[in-house]
Amino acid sequence: MIPFLWLILLTHIRWVNTADLANVSISLVQNIFILAGQSNMSGRGGVTNHGQNGIVNETWDGIIPPECQSNPNILRLSAGFTWVEAQEPLHQDIDLGKVCGVGPGMSFANSVVEKDPSFGVIGLVPCAIGGTNISEWVRGGGLYNQMIRRTEAALQGGGKLQALLWYQGESDTQTLEDAKLYKFRLKRLFKSVRRDLQSPTLPVIQVALASSLGPYKGQVRKAQLGINLPNVRTVDAKGLPVGMDYVHITTLAQVHLGQMLADAFLQTQTTQAVLLPIQTETTQTSNAPKRCSNFVLDVLLGPFR
Ligand SMILES: *[C@@H]1O[C@H](CO)[C@@H](O)[C@H](O)[C@H]1NC(C)=O
Ligand SMILES: *[C@@H]1O[C@H](CO)[C@@H](O)[C@H](O)[C@H]1NC(C)=O
Ligand SMILES: *[C@@H]1O[C@H](CO)[C@@H](O)[C@H](O)[C@H]1NC(C)=O
Ligand SMILES: *[C@@H]1O[C@H](CO)[C@@H](O)[C@H](O)[C@H]1NC(C)=O
Repeated sequence: MIPFLWLILLTHIRWVNTADLANVSISLVQNIFILAGQSNMSGRGGVTNHGQNGIVNETWDGIIPPECQSNPNILRLSAGFTWVEAQEPLHQDIDLGKVCGVGPGMSFANSVVEKDPSFGVIGLVPCAIGGTNISEWVRGGGLYNQMIRRTEAALQGGGKLQALLWYQGESDTQTLEDAKLYKFRLKRLFKSVRRDLQSPTLPVIQVALASSLGPYKGQVRKAQLGINLPNVRTVDAKGLPVGMDYVHITTLAQVHLGQMLADAFLQTQTTQAVLLPIQTETTQTSNAPKRCSNFVLDVLLGPFR
């Protein structure tokens, strides 16, 4: 009986290799969050450029504030598709070729766990890539596909997709045309994510840009604040300190931002019963395989949950 169940388990978690199955924590992930966008989501807190005369020589100071410390209840999907204990910098194996520092993810997760101790194990799925514009996140594009693929993999373990955390827009402040199209592109992106992940009311918590290098910050910000989709919350980066590079928010700003994201997310939890429409037939059908794998995991790992 037991070997048979292991076989079922193996076929349901195809993306996990056998060695990882020994790590019970993989199946303990109950709450999955996607982290996406550009560098401020990836995290540049504590990154300084020591180069002079236009030479770029960046290092991360390695300072991890208490709010961003690792916690056995907070895991991270690695680039190699395994759950590992999350630690700063969260995007180091995802946002390649850049010096990553502190982002909002750890502070967010620690804050959720602290404010709702019964919340359960969190699985973060980092997907942000520095310097990207929203066109590069279009459905079918490389970044989008990778985000969906990673999230689907994360969900194979049986957890619930809780929210998309999105912090982007800087790259779309350069031309008036991009700034004008931002609202349309943003809405289209959120709708595609919800559709492709079969989560039609997935909460989206996004960050409104406070300042930018490009001239059209105003339009992008207006688009972000004016987005009229249900279950999208916006937290405002206005007032958060930007670092010495004039480009990225600081470590302490990231701590604060993570807490704001957590508050906004927890608010969706208390209001969700009112906001969520009744599940449609299609949604229920498409969720069926997930329930099945949940069931198998429950049987097998019930004692560990
Ligand atoms: C980069 O900056 C660090 C810190 O100031 C310094 O130790 C290192 O030598 C620099 N590297 C280069 C290649 O300039
Ligand atoms: C197993 O889980 C622990 C703690 O959650 C983590 O530190 C470790 O990296 C995991 N091992 C693997 C192979 O994922
Ligand atoms: C977005 O970025 C890509 C890659 O850097 C670039 O080729 C493209 O022109 C940009 N698109 C817009 C609309 O800015
Ligand atoms: C990071 O966020 C700050 C605050 O919104 C903003 O001023 C800055 O332009 C952003 N930088 C990038 C590269 O997105």
